[in-house]
Amino acid sequence: NYYAILMAGGVGSRFWPISTQDFPKQFHDMLGTGDTLIQKTFHRLAQLIPKENIFILTNERYNDLVFEQLPEITQRQVVLEPAMRNTAPCILYAALKIQKENPDAVMIVAPSDHWIEDEQAFTNNVQQAFDFCGSNNALMTLGITPTFPNTGYGYIEYDNTSGDSIRKVNQFREKPNYETAKSFIKQGNFLWNAGIFMWSVKSVLEAFKKNQPELFQHFKNGYEAYNTEKEGAFITENYAKAENISIDYAVMEKSDNVYVIPATFDWNDLGTWGSLYDKLDKDDTNNAVVNAKTLLEDASGNMIRSNKDKLVVIDGLKDYIVVDKDEVLLIFPKTKEQDIKKVLQNVKANFGEE
Ligand code: GDD
Ligand code: MG
Repeated sequence: NYYAILMAGGVGSRFWPISTQDFPKQFHDMLGTGDTLIQKTFHRLAQLIPKENIFILTNERYNDLVFEQLPEITQRQVVLEPAMRNTAPCILYAALKIQKENPDAVMIVAPSDHWIEDEQAFTNNVQQAFDFCGSNNALMTLGITPTFPNTGYGYIEYDNTSGDSIRKVNQFREKPNYETAKSFIKQGNFLWNAGIFMWSVKSVLEAFKKNQPELFQHFKNGYEAYNTEKEGAFITENYAKAENISIDYAVMEKSDNVYVIPATFDWNDLGTWGSLYDKLDKDDTNNAVVNAKTLLEDASGNMIRSNKDKLVVIDGLKDYIVVDKDEVLLIFPKTKEQDIKKVLQNVKANFGEE
């Protein structure tokens, strides 16, 4: 009864120029290991979940990329969205399809583009969550010990009166402002939401019905059509009309049956070149190199990526991102990595497509 849905619809614009709208980061070998992020995620989940029950949720423009990279899957497992509507609509839609196939399903929702260090620990945490969700009406999250007041994450306040490894959640707060995030961290019993959720389809659909009745009805209207040849017509007609909202705001913040397992694995959501740099092996002067032959002099703390056959020669450079890709070469200070998103807007305005 185990199912997974892999969210692979994001664009990853801060990883430009490698990640682009036509070829986003989840389909790239960001770590230089030979596997793309979505391949890594698929195989990690396949430790626990039958391969044929792992569904990929993505924009219809990535259909071919999915099949190229995961040749073992079938079209039934690829849930295509005609528009980007954030995570709540696609999770709801997929949950209804899975319910129709197997009303007793217990599932995990996982981003396709994260870095997870200890695969065994991950599998253990998920197994524990599945056991719990199989017999409780629970929305389960995985929590990460916060290290600074990051305002891009969800925060989970857990009940610390028990020492159990599964904690009841008092409050889920998506993307608080800096001051609030700081006070949460000071308080102590807060974790970051890893963006990985586990629940029975029954529980998540109940939560949608209760907290997002309109959205729920919107997708429930197509129930007869799901998993039949009529599904495509319904989705083409209706998907883009769904509200644009994330699962965090739509369901997690509003529910009172949220639980958390403090993760026992090391996690990173690979949001920027700097976060990737942190996770890669470094040379003696702390340069991280992916897919490049290099000759480095007086170079330290740099994140360097090229293509395998290109020699990169650098002298006198510290703490930079150097990314070379076909017709684009990016040389950018690591401290300003958040600005790459803005730069990309500029590039589009001045030079058209990326
Ligand atoms: N299929 C599909 N369709 N996937 C999507 C869509 C969509 O419309 N929108 C986003 N995704 C995918 C992204 O590619 C990513 O893997 C995942 O869903 C989460 O979306 P993000 O846009 O990256 O969310 P976030 O980073 O703002 O916040 C979420 O993740 C944080 C941890 O990384 C929240 O769950 C936070 O609470 C959490 O802390
Ligand atoms: Mg994210």
